[in-house]
Amino acid sequence: MSDYTIPRPAAGDITDLIADDHRLFEDLMRDMRDVSADRDGARSAFAAVLIAHSEAEEEVVYPKLVRRDVIEGEEEHHGEKEHAATNEALLHLLQAKGTDTQKFDDAVEAVAEVLNHHIGEEEQTILNPAREDASEELRQQLGAGWAARRNELLEDGAGSLEQVESLVKQAYEDGLLPNDDQPS
Ligand SMILES: [Fe+2]
Ligand SMILES: [Fe+2]
Repeated sequence: MSDYTIPRPAAGDITDLIADDHRLFEDLMRDMRDVSADRDGARSAFAAVLIAHSEAEEEVVYPKLVRRDVIEGEEEHHGEKEHAATNEALLHLLQAKGTDTQKFDDAVEAVAEVLNHHIGEEEQTILNPAREDASEELRQQLGAGWAARRNELLEDGAGSLEQVESLVKQAYEDGLLPNDDQPS
């Protein structure tokens, strides 16, 4: 990759760990808009951490919080749909050949729009209830589990073009993305 080093915490309160990654997404999106930054490096780091973060949330965090009645069942599905929409926007960003094109700039803004919405909603409807209702023990337990899965996904090269293509294809098959939008 580049000089972008993705932090890999191994433990912590899940609400802090997730919020820290959201700030990292925002930093990387800002760099992708900055002509003086290593925008290609920022894109690679962004894709890797975004995919590892979201997959680990779906596997480790959302189901546990639902089961603990911290969030409603409805919300879990909602989160997966928003992850799918973000991944589709990420796919278009990864498909942009260079970084000094209108296509790249447009793709960055399209990702930013869906992702900013998602992280705002996740912090208010998932992290806040967890902060208020989940025990410290559960938050630490989820933090360790999520971090371990996220780090494993990063080790496995999360965020490659091929992987994002396959996640988007799967999301269409699972009905998480509207079928009429599917590219032929
Ligand atoms: Fe998140
Ligand atoms: Fe999320």
